[in-house]
Amino acid sequence: MNKLRVSRILNQLRCKSPFDGDCLPSRVSFFGWGRPSLPFPHLWNYKEPIRILDGYFHNVEHLSQSGKHNRYFEVPALPTVLVTRDPAVIKPILFATGDKPGQFDRDTMPTDGIARATGEDSMLYANGPLWRAQKKLAAPSFGRSNLFQPETLGEFEQTFRHTAMQRLKRLHGIQSESGEAVTRVELEPEINVVMLEMLVNNFFGGKVSEDDLWDKYVPSLRLLIDHMVNDTIEAHWLRPFKVFRKSSERLMAAQKDFEQLTDIALAGRQTGAGMWARFKSDAPDEALRSNIRVFLAGAMEATSSLTAWTLSHLARSPEWQENVYKEVYAIDVYEPESLKNATVLHQVLEETLRLTPSLYFLPRKSTVDTWIDTTDERKLFMPKDTHVLLDVWHANRCEDFWGKAVSGYRADIFAPERWDVLKDKDYSAKNLQHFGFGFGPRTCPGVSLGRLEVALAVGAFVKLFKFKAVNDSVGAYAGVSTKPDDGVLVDLELRDEFR
Ligand code: HEM
Repeated sequence: MNKLRVSRILNQLRCKSPFDGDCLPSRVSFFGWGRPSLPFPHLWNYKEPIRILDGYFHNVEHLSQSGKHNRYFEVPALPTVLVTRDPAVIKPILFATGDKPGQFDRDTMPTDGIARATGEDSMLYANGPLWRAQKKLAAPSFGRSNLFQPETLGEFEQTFRHTAMQRLKRLHGIQSESGEAVTRVELEPEINVVMLEMLVNNFFGGKVSEDDLWDKYVPSLRLLIDHMVNDTIEAHWLRPFKVFRKSSERLMAAQKDFEQLTDIALAGRQTGAGMWARFKSDAPDEALRSNIRVFLAGAMEATSSLTAWTLSHLARSPEWQENVYKEVYAIDVYEPESLKNATVLHQVLEETLRLTPSLYFLPRKSTVDTWIDTTDERKLFMPKDTHVLLDVWHANRCEDFWGKAVSGYRADIFAPERWDVLKDKDYSAKNLQHFGFGFGPRTCPGVSLGRLEVALAVGAFVKLFKFKAVNDSVGAYAGVSTKPDDGVLVDLELRDEFR
C-alpha cells in the first residue's frame, strides 16, 4: 500500500473531508435517524434507488448552502462517493466529461449490468479514445444536422406517423369493441411497442411484424432491461457466489431475441434502408453491434419513459391536455416548421423532463485530483477516483433552484406554466437547465430523434383520445430509467370526432 493511500485511509478513519474549496460537501453518516434508506445500494434496497438518493438529502435544511446540496459518503479504504443536486456543480462536471487528460469519465460502476447485455465498447459505456471513436462512428446518424434536413425529416416523419397511427388504431379498436364510452387501459405496454417499432422498422428500416413486437421482442427487451439493473447490484454483492448464479432459460431466450433484433436492424445496411442510406462508414458490421444494442434497448427505454411520463402528467391535468389538443388539432404533418410552432407541446415535454427526468442520475468519476469552478464562482477540490452521482432528479425538484421564488410554482409539481414565468424573467437554458438530455460532450446524441418520436406519439394520442388517470397520484419506478409506477393506467375515451 503506498503512503498516499495510507494517509487517505487514516483521514477517512478520522472523518476528515477529502474535499477542499468554498463549495464544501457535507458528510453523510452510515446510519441516520429516520432516513429513508442506507446511503448505498444493497440487496434489500437496490430496487428503490430514488429512496437511496432521498436519504442523502434527508434533514439537510440546517446546513450551509454548499453542504445542503452537495453530500459525500465514505467507508474507510473505499473510494469517496459524492452526490450533488447543485446545478452549479452538475453543469461544470458534465462539461468536463470527455477524453482529454484530467477530464471526468462516465462512471461505469452503476452501469456494468448494461455493458454485460450490450457490449463494453458501446458509446454509452466506453470512456477515453474508444468512446471518442464510437461517437464519431455512430452519433452523426442521429444528429440534428442529418435528421432535420427537410427531406430526411419528412421521410422519417411520414413513417413514424404511420406507425403511431397504426398502433392507435389498435387502441381505437379496443375502445370501439368494448361498446362502453370509457375503457380502462394500461398505456405503458402500448408505448413500448410503438417506440420499438419506430426504431427497428422506421429508423433502421427493418421489417418486424406487430405480433412479433408484442409477443417476442418487447417482452424480451423488457426482461433484459430489468435484468441489467439486478445484474449490476447482484454481480457486486454476490460475486463470491458467482458459480451458483445461472442464467434462467427465459433470460437466455431473451438474449437470443436481442441478437436477432440487432441482426434485423443491421440488415438494412446492405440495402440502404432507413437511416442506413445516410450512414457513411466502412466499419465492419461487428464493430457496430454494441452501439446498435444500446440504441435499441436504451432508446426504447428512454423514449418510452418520456412518453409515459408525459401522458401520465396530462392524464392528471385536463387543462394542459386540452391546451395540447388545441395546438395539435390543426397539425397533420410534423415538419420542422410545425414542430417549431408546437410551443405548448414543447413546454409540456420540457416540464415532464424537468419534474420526472428519464435518467434520474448521471454517473461520473474523477480521473485525477481536480478543482472544479462552479457556475456561481465557487471552487471545489475533489480527489481522484471519486464516484460522483449528478442527482438531476433531486436538483430539478429542489425548491431552491426551481421553486416559487424562481419559477412562480412549487418545484415538485407539474406546472408547464412555469416556463412562461421563466421566459418573462429572461431565464434561458444558459442559466437554468433540467439536464433531461445531459449536457456537454457526452450529451444525448439521440435528442432530436427522441424528441421527434415522443412529440409524434403524444401529439397523435392527444388528438384521438381524452384520458383521465385512474389514480390521483403516482410514484416513480426507477430502473435503467424512471417510469410512472402505475403503468400509466387511464380511463380512455374517444374524442367526439372519432366516435
Ligand atoms: C426522449 C428520449 C431520451 C432521453 C430522455 C435521453 C436521455 C439521455 C441522457 C440524459 C443522456 C446523458 C447521460 C449522461 O450524461 O450520463 C443520454 C445519453 C445517450 N443517449 Fe439518450 N435519451 C433519449 C433518447 C435517445 C435515443 C433515441 C438514442 C439513440 C437512438 C439515445 C442514445 C444515447 C447514447 C448513445 C448516449 C450516450 C452518449 C455518450 O456517452 O456520448 N438516446 N441520453
